[in-house]
Amino acid sequence: MSRERLAENVYLAPDEDAVIILDQTKLPNEEEYLSLSTAEDMVEALQSMRVRGAPVIGIFAAYSLYVLARQIEADSYEDFYEQLHQQVDFLNSSRPTAANLRWALDRMESLVQAHKRASLPEIVQMIGDEAEAIQREDIQMCRQIAENGLTLLEEGDGILTHCNAGALAASRYGTALGPILLGHDQGMDIHVYVGETRPLLQGARLTSYELYREGVDVTLICDNMVSTVMKNGWIQAVFVGCDRIALNGDVANKIGTSGIAILAKHYGIPFYVLGPSSSIDPECPNGDGILIEMREAEEVRSAYFSEPIAPEGVACYNPSFDVTDHSLITAIITEKGVFYPPYDRTLAEALS
Ligand code: MRU
Repeated sequence: MSRERLAENVYLAPDEDAVIILDQTKLPNEEEYLSLSTAEDMVEALQSMRVRGAPVIGIFAAYSLYVLARQIEADSYEDFYEQLHQQVDFLNSSRPTAANLRWALDRMESLVQAHKRASLPEIVQMIGDEAEAIQREDIQMCRQIAENGLTLLEEGDGILTHCNAGALAASRYGTALGPILLGHDQGMDIHVYVGETRPLLQGARLTSYELYREGVDVTLICDNMVSTVMKNGWIQAVFVGCDRIALNGDVANKIGTSGIAILAKHYGIPFYVLGPSSSIDPECPNGDGILIEMREAEEVRSAYFSEPIAPEGVACYNPSFDVTDHSLITAIITEKGVFYPPYDRTLAEALS
């Protein structure tokens, strides 16, 4: 099976024995690619956020499952499925908040369950094809999200974004950065403000790197400068990605997002969430049910500083995500369109 390279940051090795990723923890200083072929290394890459961003986590998990499925030695469907299921559970255990991880793995598992009568080599082949389909669909979805989001942008706008929802986190155009990149391609004058996104600095390391390389007019700010740039009148809209969308429109995204939404409401600035419909969790009625990943204190105390910035042993609180209340969100943009409140009704359309 020959597979073309679909994206620069996650793809299958030519011999299909490994998944190749661009190690996002090394950016922007080094562009280092890693070849991962064991479940332990794959889970480590997810937990350390060498590969990150909700849609890309799903794509990576799908390719990983294919590589691991090729390694399974089994003489019956039942034996094969049991081993595969263990790998699904292991990959799923890596990061709890982004809906796309479970979504992609559920999709792969359902496919396998639907083809019990196929031969094991055929099933393995189907897993590979499905992983590729998930990535191809993501490329199309991101393009459509970009087009839908572009309808909300105006010439000369200042846009604030948080974390990284660009090509490193989703295919090609990304999600929240999609309209910006598409507008830029079309010659629009857009200025982007990006919060550094403590503690792992995805805004500084990844978003400013992506936009700067593309020639987009971008200014990096510290997270505590959001109110000031809004008060200065420099922000006409906020565009952020999402990790999980509840059916009532509550949205989990990188820690700090909900504070930005509250500020946007105060200053009368529209707050838009952009993501694929696969980030909508049909089993999650509201944000209270979203499990928030807690991460190591070391990330707050010392990550990306040459020396620790706090006493060793000091208590740290490090939730990786927060939930933005649906009442603060002006619209949710998916590949299917721009959805306005009441979200409990309109998101049902997005899922249909
Ligand atoms: O912890 P991360 O870096 O994986 O968190 C990423 C985000 O919060 C993104 O905004 C979200 O996944 C959308 S990516 C298109």
